Amino acid sequence: MAQLALKGGTPVRTSPYPSWPVWEEKELDAVSAVVNSGKWGMAQGDRVKELEKRFAAYQEAAYGIAASSGTSALRVALLAAGLEAGTEVIMPAYTFIATATAVIEANMIPVFADIDPDTYNLDPASVEEVITDKTGAIMPVHLAGLPADMDSIQEIARERDLVVIEDACQAWGSEYKGRKVGAIGLGGAFSFQSSKHITAGEGGMLVTDEEDYAECCRSIVDCGRRAGGAWHEHVRLGGNYRLSELQAAVIHAQLERYEKMLARRQQAAAFLREKLARIDGIRPLAVPESATATSCHLFILRYESESFGGLSKEDFIKALNAEGICPAHGGYYIPLYRQPVLLEKNVGPYDLITRHEFRGKVIDYSSFDCPVAERACRSEAVWILQNLLLAEREDLEDIVRAVEKVRENYGELLK
Ligand SMILES: Cc1ncc(COP(=O)(O)O)c(C=O)c1O
Repeated sequence: MAQLALKGGTPVRTSPYPSWPVWEEKELDAVSAVVNSGKWGMAQGDRVKELEKRFAAYQEAAYGIAASSGTSALRVALLAAGLEAGTEVIMPAYTFIATATAVIEANMIPVFADIDPDTYNLDPASVEEVITDKTGAIMPVHLAGLPADMDSIQEIARERDLVVIEDACQAWGSEYKGRKVGAIGLGGAFSFQSSKHITAGEGGMLVTDEEDYAECCRSIVDCGRRAGGAWHEHVRLGGNYRLSELQAAVIHAQLERYEKMLARRQQAAAFLREKLARIDGIRPLAVPESATATSCHLFILRYESESFGGLSKEDFIKALNAEGICPAHGGYYIPLYRQPVLLEKNVGPYDLITRHEFRGKVIDYSSFDCPVAERACRSEAVWILQNLLLAEREDLEDIVRAVEKVRENYGELLK
C-alpha cells in the first residue's frame, strides 16, 4: 500500500495553516477613525507623517519617506540618487521582478550578478565581475529577510564611488551586525504589499540617514513639490507615489503586533532549520553570523534532488503539498535575466536598454549566466511561506514529518 498522499496514502495533515493577513479590531477601528476624520490623504492627516518617523526609528534610520509600494520606493530611491540615464545598476539574478523593473523605469540598466550558494544573497565576487565604467549603483536584496553581505558590498562601492540602494522589501526588522538594514547604504526600500509581514494591502517606505537625499525622495514621491513650497510649485520631475492615511492607519495597527509575531517566526524558523537540516538532501539556507536578526519572510530550503533518487523539485513540492504542507512552492522559477521582459526588451518607451552598450555590445540578457541562481530556480529552492511560521509547534512538526515521509518513500514517485 502506498504511503505518500500523492499516491493515495493518508496525508500528514488536512487542517490548514494560519492564513494571512492577520487583523483585529485595531485595524478596523483605525480605518474607521480615518474615514470619520474626513482626512484621507497624506496632506490632510498626520498618520503618514507619524508612520514615517515610527518606521524610520524602528529601522534605526534618520528619515522615513512613505510611498505607494516597494516598487515605487525603489524607483524613487534611484531617481533621487543623482545617477545619470543609462547608469548600470548591479543586482542579484535571484529576486522579485520589481528590483529590475524599478531600475528600467528610472531610465537605468539592470545588470545581474550571481548569488551566494549558502544564503542566496548577492555574491560580492560576482558583483566585481560585472562592474564596468558605466556602473553607478549596487542594489543588494535582503532576500527572505536574510541581510546581504553589506561590508563587502559597501567596500566595493566605496572603492569605485558607487551608490548602494538596499532592496529591503522582505526585511522589516532584519539586522546586519547589530544594525537594522535599509539605511546602511544610501537608502533602502520596504514593501507593505499583501504578502508582507506588515501590510496595508499595498504600500512602501524608503529609509535613509541623509537629509538632502530624504528631501529629494520626499519631493519625487509628492509631485516634485518643495518642502515649505507652495502647493502648485513643482521644482523637479516627481509623481504621485504617496501612501494614503487609510493605509498608514492599518500599518500603524500592524506594527503594534509586529515584534511579537517576528519573535514567533524567528523561533519557528530556528526550529525548522535545526530539524530539517538533519534530513539527508535538505539544507535550509545558512544564516551567517553577520545576520544578527532576520525577518524570516520566507523559509527557503535547498533541496538536493540527487539524494531523492533524482526526484524533481516540482514533484517533491507536489508530494509535500499533498501531505498538507501548503503553501510550499518553488519560488522564482527563472533568474531575472531570463524573464521575457528582459530577453525581448519589452519595455515600452523605457527603451534605453534596447541600445545600451554593455562591454562593447548592445546588452543581451540571454548572455548572462549565473549558475547558482539557475540552480536555485531550476532544482534547489523550495519556499515555505511566512504564514506557516506563525503556526503552533505541533503544526511545524508536521512540516518536518512530511519532508521525512517524502524522503523515506520517494521511490513511490519514481516508479
Ligand atoms: C525583493 C522584492 N523587491 C521589491 C518588491 C516590490 O514591492 P511591492 O510589491 O510593494 O511593489 C518585492 C515585493 O513584492 C520584493 O519581494
